[in-house]
Amino acid sequence: RQDLKEGLTQECKTLLSTVPIDKGWVATNLFQYQGFWHTATQLQGVLTCQQHFQAKPDDLLLITTPKSGTTWLKAVAFATVNRNRYSSSDHPLLTTNPHDLVPFLERKLFIDNQNPDLTSFTYPRLFSTHLPYVSLPKSVEQLGCKMVYLCRDPRDAFISLWHFTNKLRTQTLGTLSLEEAFERFCRGVCLYGPAWDHIMDYWKKSLERPENVFFLKFEEMKAQPSVQLKRLAEFFGCPFSKEEEKKGVVEEILKLCSFDHLSNLNVNKTGKLSSGEENSTFFRKGEVGDWINHLTPQMIKKFEQITEEKFHGSGLQF
Ligand code: A3P
Repeated sequence: RQDLKEGLTQECKTLLSTVPIDKGWVATNLFQYQGFWHTATQLQGVLTCQQHFQAKPDDLLLITTPKSGTTWLKAVAFATVNRNRYSSSDHPLLTTNPHDLVPFLERKLFIDNQNPDLTSFTYPRLFSTHLPYVSLPKSVEQLGCKMVYLCRDPRDAFISLWHFTNKLRTQTLGTLSLEEAFERFCRGVCLYGPAWDHIMDYWKKSLERPENVFFLKFEEMKAQPSVQLKRLAEFFGCPFSKEEEKKGVVEEILKLCSFDHLSNLNVNKTGKLSSGEENSTFFRKGEVGDWINHLTPQMIKKFEQITEEKFHGSGLQF
């Protein structure tokens, strides 16, 4: 249990010494808490967030599993909710990575701080999280906060995660092979995994409480971006007016947040997040179906089996 670090609370240390443990993809170990896998530092963030984040009723939460299009969703949601605050020439997205504009609760704000300064947030506050439904801070459900869940075909999310991991791994760690990553992903042993369970829990909630949980697919955003963006704005309670539509506001937001535009901005080519990752690591291809270029026929079959088993009868398909 080499991930134990200074700065973790006694509660977190105790938890780390009792919960299931497995190999990490970048960090040394992953720990299973409430059915999902976290690094030690992240688990501290999860606990602190659960205990200290106090939602407000009009907070908006953007939720994903890693590599499902979080960066894109953050950009689009930020631009939509704040569309009357900024013009296209002075837009914060031109100089700031979306992850710094819509910070993660458990990976940024509460990761090492029980009382982060949230005074600079404008209303409605936009937060993001990778937390599974079971681990959300209680006030989010109690107050009926709106949540957008963006999911992605697990095959593409896996390939994206594998590439991302290898960008973050040190030389000493070396490259994580596709086979090894695949085996772990299928067992659910990856950050916030098992991905299928993460998705299914939010899918069920979105059916039970559609007014609170808006379920969106990366593939739908790619196929019909303006249709989906209009649905998103309606869900947020700030629908585009006919006049805005006529003026092309929807298309303007989509262009501002497009893969080509964001990935070519200086800030995203050369900048870094305060957490240390290079902004460029969040942009690779941004396409649907890249898994076909990587997975072997056996891997494809295994994915099909797991997906069938986990999603059977749910109505959710990719
Ligand atoms: P690929 O690795 O398949 O290219 P996350 O933001 O959750 O970390 O997910 C990263 C994935 O989203 C990467 O997928 C990345 O290229 C893609 N992505 C990032 N910005 C995007 C955008 N504006 N439009 C579409 N896809 C985007």
